[in-house]
Amino acid sequence: MNEPVNQPATPPALPASVYPFGLRDDKSRSRPRRIAVIPGDGIGVEVVAQALRALAPLGVQVQTSHFPWSADHYFATGETLPQGALADLRDNYDAILFGALGDPRVPEQIVARDVLLGLRFGLDLYINLRPVQLIDERLCPIKGKRTADINFTVLRENTEGPYVQMGGSFKRDTADEVAISEDLNTRRGVERIIRAAYTLATTPHGGTHSPPRVCMVDKANALPHAHGLWQRTFKAVAREFPAVAASHLYVDVAAMEFVRAPERFDIVVTSNLFGDILTDLGAALCGGLGVAASGNIHPGRCSLFEPVHGSAPDLAGKGLANPLAAFLTLALLLEHIGEPLAAHRLRLAVEAVVRAGRTTRDLGGELSTTQCGDAVLHALQALPTHSAEPVAQPAGSKSQGGMPP
Ligand code: NAD
Ligand code: IPM
Ligand code: MN
Repeated sequence: MNEPVNQPATPPALPASVYPFGLRDDKSRSRPRRIAVIPGDGIGVEVVAQALRALAPLGVQVQTSHFPWSADHYFATGETLPQGALADLRDNYDAILFGALGDPRVPEQIVARDVLLGLRFGLDLYINLRPVQLIDERLCPIKGKRTADINFTVLRENTEGPYVQMGGSFKRDTADEVAISEDLNTRRGVERIIRAAYTLATTPHGGTHSPPRVCMVDKANALPHAHGLWQRTFKAVAREFPAVAASHLYVDVAAMEFVRAPERFDIVVTSNLFGDILTDLGAALCGGLGVAASGNIHPGRCSLFEPVHGSAPDLAGKGLANPLAAFLTLALLLEHIGEPLAAHRLRLAVEAVVRAGRTTRDLGGELSTTQCGDAVLHALQALPTHSAEPVAQPAGSKSQGGMPP
């Protein structure tokens, strides 16, 4: 299933420490990086195909292997995530580029549960990093907000909460039915995501405020046990990071503040479910799901990168999906594998495309998915070869800094 290796890599222009959660360089560059591609369902397939087109012009040396896990594959074979897949990905790949999973024909979302949640849990990808970065102020639905006002990162806990699917139902499909979904929070799990947030904040790219800010979002007033643990842990870890301004918001107020005053945030750290919901809101601040990227990360290990959006059955097969979130997702992946300059160039190309209005309909343009992909490739070719230092530019790499695995 291997596809050809791209052109030789340009040497990385920056030290790997720019990005805090990436691969260690000891996986020496003597071999090309290996990327597992899981396009998935619906528009996942369409947008991933576009993003992959950027690899060759970026000159990044990678080897890609496609995996077919999807609703169609499930109906053809009965397979969701096959035996051995976790170990294969963990041991033989540097990163995963993922489209989306979700198909109305699949009972109880078992493919998404086994593959997407299976990979998050099975590879222990405990950081879900979701930048909320406005590329162009015309994309923002809130009047008067500038690009500098909406430039923060949400770190969503990614291996606990109600997502662990502990619980069950009793007397199902009767009038007496009882259903329980447990919200799992462990000291270890809460501490490591909070520590990741503080670590990110203390790196050169962790925030635009001085001192850098970490805001923890919970609902401890209503959930004193689970979110009391978050509060106590947040305060304990804060003592190790005196140079960071720590603050706290309840999730209802945080939702309001995302809209009212997004400029107040650098890093937001929160639980799995709250992070899921808040990052769709964050996406809306920046123009919608068509431009929202994410990384599911275990520092130093094979990690999974995906757009925040789903399979969008309403758009699938129509050539209407915005591929920019997938390009920006590839940029996060490139940073993870130690290609910060390529990541930076790709972000510059996406920004140029948006500025020129060469977009799909969700952003007010008229282009198809493929035409928008073409526009990104043209913009890449038009960039000066030495286009700037990633360190110096605000968008995209702000959220990167240094963290042990
Ligand atoms: P969705 O993100 O697929 O779509 C929500 C809305 O945003 C739709 O109106 C859609 O047309 C629009 N949209 C999404 N991506 C777009 C893009 N790239 N360009 C333009 N418009 C875009 O969310 P949903 O409708 O709630 O879910 C559909 C399926 O996807 C469900 O099965 C859900 O569980 C699944 N899902 C999967 C993932 C994932 O795999 N990571 C994420 C979210 C939802
Ligand atoms: C996301 C998605 C998933 C989540 C679904 C598909 C389980 O909404 O990645 O944001 O809730 O994590
Ligand atoms: Mn979501």
